[in-house]
Amino acid sequence: MKKGIIALLTICLAAANATAAQVPQLANVQARNITSLNGEWNYIIDVQEEGYYDYRMNPTAWGFFRNAKPQRPEDLIEYDFDKAAVMNIPGDWNTQNEQLFFYEGTVWFKRTFEWHHKADDHRTILYFGAVNYEARVWVNGRNAGYHVGGFTPFNMDITDLLTDGDNFVIVKVDNKRKAENVPTQIFDWWNYGGITRDVLLIDVAPVYIENYKLCLDKSAPDQISFNVNLNEKLAGQQITLSIPELKITKKLVTDDNGTAQVQFKARKLQLWSPDNPKLYDVEITLADETLNDRIGFRTIETKGKQLLLNGKPIFLKGISIHDEKPNGGGRTNSVDDARTLLSWARELGCNYVRLAHYPHNEYMVREAEKMGILVWSEIPVYWTITWTNPDTYANAERQLTDMIRRDQNRANVLIWSVANETPHSPERDKFLSSLAKTARSLDDTRLISMAMEVTSASNYKNRLQDNMNEYVDVISFNQYIGWYRDVNDAPKMEWEIPYDKPVIVSEFGGGARYGLHGDKNERWTEEFQENLYIENLAMLDKIEGLVGTTPWIMKDFRSPRRVLDGIQDYYNRKGLYSDKGEKKKAFYILQSWYSTK
Ligand code: GCU
Repeated sequence: MKKGIIALLTICLAAANATAAQVPQLANVQARNITSLNGEWNYIIDVQEEGYYDYRMNPTAWGFFRNAKPQRPEDLIEYDFDKAAVMNIPGDWNTQNEQLFFYEGTVWFKRTFEWHHKADDHRTILYFGAVNYEARVWVNGRNAGYHVGGFTPFNMDITDLLTDGDNFVIVKVDNKRKAENVPTQIFDWWNYGGITRDVLLIDVAPVYIENYKLCLDKSAPDQISFNVNLNEKLAGQQITLSIPELKITKKLVTDDNGTAQVQFKARKLQLWSPDNPKLYDVEITLADETLNDRIGFRTIETKGKQLLLNGKPIFLKGISIHDEKPNGGGRTNSVDDARTLLSWARELGCNYVRLAHYPHNEYMVREAEKMGILVWSEIPVYWTITWTNPDTYANAERQLTDMIRRDQNRANVLIWSVANETPHSPERDKFLSSLAKTARSLDDTRLISMAMEVTSASNYKNRLQDNMNEYVDVISFNQYIGWYRDVNDAPKMEWEIPYDKPVIVSEFGGGARYGLHGDKNERWTEEFQENLYIENLAMLDKIEGLVGTTPWIMKDFRSPRRVLDGIQDYYNRKGLYSDKGEKKKAFYILQSWYSTK
């Protein structure tokens, strides 16, 4: 009897002290042993966050994360997830409930799931592709983790919180904007809130492959470099890399840090490029776990003002894109969304896209890679960031690190961008140069850039001056001649960019309401936008060292800053496609210009 009581107490104590741990990002989650938690989740809108802060009511009931139920007739519980409405996850709340279209605050989500003990002490990782903006996670009423940042994955080991049979996960999502956040409280896109990307359970062995990088060696382009790390600092673990089509098999053994690396020559390698987006099947094995991936090999470098892909100059025929469904919905959340948006870019004649202003859905990067479309990937260090706040910097650096760790094996990712249109100051330079150094230390096989701003323009002379020029590999800048200034003066403009580096015009454009026609000098007509493109593209042809452009923007997108009734209606109308996927006249001007490149 006594032993039984002790055992029961031990179990209860362990359960009470059971904790979860946030774990570093796992590469290539889709290749792992996953169970999807996508689908219908119950949700409760909690404007005053009483579900998190309310101690006044019945203390045993407070906290929506407890999912409390009345035990006795007199018990007062003022919430019940099981009676609450449901929402499709992944998906933003703004476009699934019209009462939430403008909502900024907290919504609670709950999902039940079945789980059973795994063999040989396997671990269960809970993975979120992204939650915008702040996520607090509980499993079976116990704290599982916390994350800020609306566009990068995060995961936590929840094994010790799980029970055999039915379990539940509750997430408190808060998308309130704050000056110290990344982005800050002002940005020109819709603040879509919610669990916007996949939710998965990942079953892993106690020791698993956490991340890896397989690419051409930066210094020896006929040599492949492979780096891999385990989740534990465990030596002596054998990892096998095989690339069957190249008849390559390499056996590695991990060191005291749980890492291993190898370099080897590769014969008759077909290099990845937009014209030949060759991907090789790759298998990475540790014990009885094999991760399958598809990897492209290519080199990227600059030489003076030239941008070289596989040693040859390339012109980036690009377009900027926001992460928004092609059909007027909210955040993208499927392979189909990615394929549709990328097919529009392909129809425009693009070999390159700027995924603005934050890391997009992983599907977008992987589908672009298969289609031979190069990518500029960016963190939302946008406009007036709180440069002097160390927590803000840590947040930006974590988003940068997670962006790179997620996509470092995608051959099509060309550029990591650390910022967009940031006002000059010594504090801003310190913040951004540190981010640039971090990006280069994490990945020296890609280029670093940021979208700068033209600093002086008079008498038709435009001069670009930015202290960040020494920290980037490519000088990129946004300019809105013909829209925000100097309407119809693009033909007279001269450009001075005093840096011996390649140049990208990362934004230009103007607004038009699809179907509105009139004189080319009349704003908001398609003819105005068409003429702006004609004049701007002729001006771009005069910029020395221009290696590409990503006009702003492929599709009209929602923004709370665009309120002109009958014209904008909460859409930024600079798209070449309308919000319903209809092509405006300027589309054909850019398509024709690209066909000559
Ligand atoms: C800026 C900014 C974009 C914005 C655009 C515009 O350059 O980078 O995010 O949408 O201008 O004003 O339309």
